[in-house]
This record gives sequence, C-alpha cells and structure tokens, in this order.
Amino acid sequence: MSLAALLEALPIPIVQAPMVGASFDALALAVSAAGGLGTLAIATLGPGEIGPAIAGLKAQTDAPFAVNLLMAPKVAPEAAEVDRALARLAPWYAGLGAPLPAAPNLFAQDFDAQLAAVIAAAPAVASFSFGVLTAAQAAALRTAGTCVVGTATTVAEARAWAAVGADGICAQGFEAGGHRGHFLAEVEASLVGTMALVATLRAAVDLPVIAAGGIMDGRGVAAALALGAAAVQMGTAFLLADEAVTSKPWRRAIATAGYEPTRLTRAFTGRHARGIENRFMREMKGVEDEVPAYPVQNRLTQPLRAASAQADEPETISLWAGQAVGLARPGAAGDMVRRWWAQAGEVAAELAARTGRGSDR
Ligand SMILES: Cc1cc2nc3c(=O)[nH]c(=O)nc-3n(C[C@H](O)[C@H](O)[C@H](O)COP(=O)(O)O)c2cc1C
Repeated sequence: MSLAALLEALPIPIVQAPMVGASFDALALAVSAAGGLGTLAIATLGPGEIGPAIAGLKAQTDAPFAVNLLMAPKVAPEAAEVDRALARLAPWYAGLGAPLPAAPNLFAQDFDAQLAAVIAAAPAVASFSFGVLTAAQAAALRTAGTCVVGTATTVAEARAWAAVGADGICAQGFEAGGHRGHFLAEVEASLVGTMALVATLRAAVDLPVIAAGGIMDGRGVAAALALGAAAVQMGTAFLLADEAVTSKPWRRAIATAGYEPTRLTRAFTGRHARGIENRFMREMKGVEDEVPAYPVQNRLTQPLRAASAQADEPETISLWAGQAVGLARPGAAGDMVRRWWAQAGEVAAELAARTGRGSDR
C-alpha cells in the first residue's frame, strides 16, 4: 500500500512521534488501536533486538504501525577528546554519587545492521531522522513492503529524500521537542517553523507531508491538515500519557513547565535538541559548543541521565519537550487521540460556518 493510501485509510490521521526514552510498545499499541499510527522508537535497540520487537508488536495488533531509526554517523573519536569530555562531566556524576563511566568502545548501534533488521521485519512504515538513506536502501525497504518516511527540516532536505525515492516527508518544525533532524545545513539554517515548513514543502515536493512540531490538540491537527498535511506527528502531547515511559522527574517538569520557553541545547548529546531548561543546560551553556558531536556526547551522558532519573532528580536529565509543552495533559493515549480528532472536526465545522457567513455578506 502506498503511504498516501495508508494515511488516507487511517481512521485518525495522527502519528505518535517516536520518542526514544519516553515511548515504546504500549504507547504505539494504544495509538494504533485508537485509529492513529503508533511508532516504535527503536534507535537504541541492537540489530538482534529489532526483529523480535517488531514481531512482538505485530502479534498484538492488526493495525499498521511505524518504526523509527536515527541515522547516527559512524565515529571513532580520539581518546583524548573522550577523556576531556568525561573530565568535564566528572563533577556532574560526582554530584549524583554515580561512578564516572570508563571510555566506551561503542558510541551508537550500527545503523546498517539496524536497517537490515528493519528490512527483514517489514513493518508498514519506517521513518528516519538525522540523515538521508541511499536510493538502494530506500528501494530495499519498499521492496519489503515498507513505506519510507524521511524527516526534513528544510525544503532542500525534503528534496534530498524525494531524490532517493522516499514515500513521504515528516516536516519537523522549529517548535518540535527532542532532537533536530537537520542533516544538510547547520542548525541555525534549519529552523523553519511548522506552519511555513508544511506550506513550502507542499509547494516544493510532490509527496505526502506529515506535520510535526508544536501540535498539541485538535486545533493544531486541523491547522496542519488545512495547510495541506496528510497527517500530523505529535510527540510532546503524549509525554504525560499513561502508556508513555517518561520518567518521574521528567513528568513533573512537563506538568509544571507552564508557559516558560523551552530551548535548544547540544550539551546533553552533541546534537541540538529542544527541552525544558534545567541546571545542566544552564551551567553547560558556556561550553556546549565544545562537547563532542553526537553520538559521542550522547553516550557519555547516558549513565548520568539514567542515574538522575533513578534519583528522581530533574536537573541532570534531558527534559526534551516542544515549545507548546504547557498544553500537555495526562490521560490514556487512546482517549487523547479520539478527543483531538473530535476537536479537529469541531474546529473545521466552526471555520466552515464562519467562512460561509463571510461569503453571504
Ligand atoms: C522526548 C522526545 C523524543 C524524541 N525522539 C525521537 C526519535 O527517537 N526519533 C525521531 O525521529 N524523532 C524524535 N523526536 C522528535 C519527534 O519525532 C517530533 O519531531 C516532535 O516530537 C514533534 O514536536 P512536538 O514534540 O512539539 O510534538 C522526539 C521528540 C521528543 C519530544
């Protein structure tokens, strides 16, 4: 089935964003069961774990779902760079009473091996961020019956995905929580807002667009569909869902974030990501340009973030969240999806009535 047909056939065109660290199978199942498209975030799984994870989800639902990989570059950092980065993190580990880890041998899963496992497991949809597949990789997925969705933050990136044969584009606006998916230009040149991005991608690329970034309820869903999106992808709106695996201190930070601004940082992972500011982000601000690039810094802070979550300490974990985090509410994910879709219908009806009145005058 083509991606356009799959999205068209969804009872509710809401995609649950993959969220490493906050979402896994329960959230994906709940959203797919409600009529949306759940996504299994598998970027941190080893190649051997991917097949069983996808088979496990397929065994629990006949509804389609997506899986998501992050295209981490292969890296071999100098030992001295890793030592310097660990030394900078030492006081943070000490502050939590957690041991400073030894320099790791492996910084991220092997992407090619992960991709081979996804192709073998043949989920309905596979989405990617941080890069672009080769035409041969995209063709292998499509041959397996998997629709390919590439994340783009600019028109140039969407065109790069179209050129390798992607079936659709996830348009990630500046508002989005978590990592920026940019891969062609510097982050500063890749910060287009969702509204401008969706509209320009629709004009520039002849592929279905999934709008992501700042969509928190039915009003945002209706707005994105009105701009020409085939579906929306929502992340932050699910962070307080019963089925999300968001840690306790992270949930608390989201629930009390209010309308304070979120911001981008590369201090936690070496790649820009949006979150609620905490002490780590504030005190690392002066040196964040010097930390090793993703995935090295990501790997070096992983035990710190795990220890912080374990200690119920919000100041040393990555509190990823989008710009509209103040609108996140708790509840069952299936109820959220159904409520947002009903609200989108009400908004569309109100607009139809209003524009109809306008034309009578
Ligand atoms: C906690 C969190 C984790 C995320 N992890 C991923 C991921 O693993 N893969 C990915 O492609 N996008 C990831 N994203 C980005 C989402 O796909 C999406 O772009 C974003 O959530 C949309 O903006 P919103 O958070 O305002 O809804 C993540 C977002 C958040 C908030």
